[in-house]
Amino acid sequence: MLAVAVLAAGKGTRMRSALPKVLQPLAGSTLVERVLASAQTLTPKRRLLIVGHQAERVEEQLSPLGGLEFVLQQPQNGTGHAVQQLLPVLDGFQGELLVLNGDVPLLRTQTVEVLVNGHRQSGADVTLLTARLADPSGYGRVFSDNQGRVSSIVEDRDCNEDQRRNNLTNAGIYCFNWAALAKVLPSLSNDNDQGELYLTDTVTMLPLARHVEVADPDEVNGVNNRKQLAQCEGVLQQRLRDHWMAEGVTFVDPDSCTLSEECQFGRDVVIEPQTHLRGRCHIGDGCKLGPASLLTNAYLEQGVCVLHSVINDVKVGKQVKIGPFAHLRPGTHIADNCRIGNFVELKKSHIGEGSKINHLSYIGDAELGRDVNVGAGTITANYDGVMKHRTLIGDQSSIGANSVLVAPIVLGTKVTVGAGSTLTKDVQSGALALGRAKQLIKQGWSMPEKTQD
Ligand code: UD1
Ligand code: CA
Repeated sequence: MLAVAVLAAGKGTRMRSALPKVLQPLAGSTLVERVLASAQTLTPKRRLLIVGHQAERVEEQLSPLGGLEFVLQQPQNGTGHAVQQLLPVLDGFQGELLVLNGDVPLLRTQTVEVLVNGHRQSGADVTLLTARLADPSGYGRVFSDNQGRVSSIVEDRDCNEDQRRNNLTNAGIYCFNWAALAKVLPSLSNDNDQGELYLTDTVTMLPLARHVEVADPDEVNGVNNRKQLAQCEGVLQQRLRDHWMAEGVTFVDPDSCTLSEECQFGRDVVIEPQTHLRGRCHIGDGCKLGPASLLTNAYLEQGVCVLHSVINDVKVGKQVKIGPFAHLRPGTHIADNCRIGNFVELKKSHIGEGSKINHLSYIGDAELGRDVNVGAGTITANYDGVMKHRTLIGDQSSIGANSVLVAPIVLGTKVTVGAGSTLTKDVQSGALALGRAKQLIKQGWSMPEKTQD
């Protein structure tokens, strides 16, 4: 039987942030969510989260995940003190306790499985994950024999010069035999540089401590400061891009693009430089994105081109061309074969198949039929200062350049609107609507001649 405890009570002083460290985001989800996910395949009986610094905020954000037991650590007196809080909670529990540092977010599920299975087979009291790091500074150093038996862990700040040269580091991931740990936990001391209770001291107190070395040291990167946060983001982004390149996506300049884990791509998608995808994006076969675009929760069918544009919560049909410099806002749905051109903003609008909005327009709260042509500079005036109103434009209508359609307004099918019109009344199908001052011509008129005085 397995229980998982995530240490998430620390303040994260070195982040210098108002946000608790474990809530810092990494490729779209928080550090602690990533840590929890790394133990998911083991289907633990209990999932415990030790909270302390801004406990309410952490609880509030994570309760929706469900199945978590929050355990309060107050004050935060070290990782050993954090696990001591489990003594009453896990009283009588028989099985293993997997302890995960809340700030080690890149751990793969397979690695955690290997750790737990190895622990069960070896009969050790604790098995911990280690890594050999080129630069071990900041990490606890693990001292072991060549059989994998661990004698002690010494924190970086407590090391003498000799000890500091050891590059076998503690990842902060441990599988304990709970009954054995529960016996030694009460006797931890704070005899160290920080005056805290260290969980790492339990390895010396337990009869048999072993370690398993991780194959990919990137997995055990800890996040203590913004630099390490950025490094982890880099590792995650590279994993994601490598995965999608193997699945048939082209990145012209991979390092300049970022993705979220919830993105899905079809075949032969080309992603040009400086293009970023966030949230749940679905990108169909043969789409071409970028250069320089930002897509969030975008659902694109096949063959869509997006150039220098920002797209947020939008559905786009096949073969649509977007940009350069379009801004597509939430609730917009564009049907197949449309053309959305430069400096066009769309919001909460439905654009029918084959319609074109090519230049300099704002279309909000509107419903356009098929093959509508919206002239340059057309605006739907959807807001009366209090309420938003809708604009409906029927199939094959043509809106002249620089028109203002004052909503609520309904234009039928095959309506033609003269350029420069301001329309406030509905227009029937097949009609021409003009709403502008008549042009005045005065024949033979010239400026009065200048007189000299
Ligand atoms: C810890 C380990 C170190 C290891 C490193 C790996 C100890 C003493 N040291 O050091 O050997 O190499 O992780 O990343 O364990 N926390 C609490 N309550 C507390 C203090 C911390 O819940 O009172 C939580 C933090 O929120 C964090 C985790 O425990 O998620 C680790 O704490 P941190 O202070 O970052 O430990 P490190 O100095 O990185
Ligand atoms: Ca840490």
